[in-house]
Amino acid sequence: MRAAKYLMIGAAFALAGCIETGKPHENPTGAEDFAAYCAGCHGASGAGDGEIAADLTKKPANLTTLSKRHKGEFPTTKVMAQIWGYTGKKGSGVMPDFGPLLEGETVPYDGGDGIETPTPIRLVQLAEYLKTIQVK
Ligand code: HEC
Repeated sequence: MRAAKYLMIGAAFALAGCIETGKPHENPTGAEDFAAYCAGCHGASGAGDGEIAADLTKKPANLTTLSKRHKGEFPTTKVMAQIWGYTGKKGSGVMPDFGPLLEGETVPYDGGDGIETPTPIRLVQLAEYLKTIQVK
């Protein structure tokens, strides 16, 4: 629990650093949200080599090989659950709470199961961005 707290504080500082240098505005793109919320651990390119990755006992996943590791299909449902699922489970995982990504407008989105679910737009944009950084 303590370790998790320490990590979350570290992540919060890392995030604050990003937000200070970046231009905050109302409609960030998936790429901008990735840079602000994920790159600290997963790396700017998503390869799992972010600045604070070295301080983590659990290595951040390489997010460019998600499709490759799932028989060439981007595991949208799994990715959504991974990000969404962390909210409200504070302290139980390494990743911080991505609350702001889940606020605001929702859009119907088929996460791969054929069912359109109202999904926060920033989460959709983030998933779509992750699809663009997949290696073949
Ligand atoms: C504090 C560091 C940290 C931050 C910030 C972070 N992650 Fe992670 N992430 C991890 C670690 C460590 C793992 C692997 C262990 C785990 O699942 O907790 C992981 C795992 C994942 C996985 C599972 C990958 C797989 O191969 O199963 C996904 C998807 C993911 N992260 C997406 C994101 C996204 C998207 C963001 C930004 C919204 C993000 N992460 C921000 C540390 C982080």
